[in-house]
Amino acid sequence: MQVMMLGLPGAGKGTQASRIHADYGIPHISTGDMFRAAIAAQTPLGREAQSYLESGRLVPDELTIGIVRERLLEPDAALGFVLDGFPRTLPQAQALDGMLKALAKPLDCVLYIHVQEEVLLARLTGRRLCKSCGATYHLVFQPPLRAGRCDVCDGELYQRTDDTAEKVATRLQQYAQTEPLVDYYQERGLLRQVDGEQEIDSVYDEIKRELDRLQSRSR
Ligand code: AP5
Ligand code: MG
Ligand code: ZN
Repeated sequence: MQVMMLGLPGAGKGTQASRIHADYGIPHISTGDMFRAAIAAQTPLGREAQSYLESGRLVPDELTIGIVRERLLEPDAALGFVLDGFPRTLPQAQALDGMLKALAKPLDCVLYIHVQEEVLLARLTGRRLCKSCGATYHLVFQPPLRAGRCDVCDGELYQRTDDTAEKVATRLQQYAQTEPLVDYYQERGLLRQVDGEQEIDSVYDEIKRELDRLQSRSR
């Protein structure tokens, strides 16, 4: 199963993709997570991407497409994948079409998590992540059992440097480059809109119904 998540920053792409990964056993491929890991390790890729992530601007297409191309060739991606945060420009979408054609692994659906912009600032400024395992929390909407510690691995929780009101404003402006993808995938009959303003579990129920339908059709 090849699935892609689409939606505004804070719509819930990562939260839902990690559940899909856990239930369906397909790798969760997040370009944002890959860039953050590269920055933490100060690899050449990380050094190149750092200023973009810190300011909330998109990393240039060439660099982004290159890391996804490599990632899709890893053995676990042969099972399928859930893409989170890629593609987010038309050239990236076109490049992905080419890669998937070469791999004979077409996209099965694009889950478009729809939310109003007004809800995003509270979601993003209240988000906390585990330093060790990357699990996502929210101070109000998805609090950890013990303040500041990860439920899964007891790791320390931190806040992303781009989760400030100022950087969120830049990220929302940058989303203008991603918006045309809604039509792009609609025209290809792949778009499935999901109401992202429900509780996290209810959003996932909607997604699961869609994915189970897909799986039963392909059997
Ligand atoms: P990336 O990491 O992809 O960030 P983003 O798109 O801004 O999306 P987020 O991760 O902020 O939101 P999300 O939808 O995953 O929300 P989450 O589930 O965490 O990219 C970061 C940067 O990397 C970019 O700015 C760019 O520089 C670079 N980059 C990455 N990909 C790129 C690409 N393809 N091309 C170029 N550059 C690229 O949820 C958010 C919070 O809300 C959490 O706290 C969660 O607990 C909570 N929450 C989730 N769902 C709900 C709900 N239903 N109700 C209440 N709270 C909820
Ligand atoms: Mg995310
Ligand atoms: Zn953890």
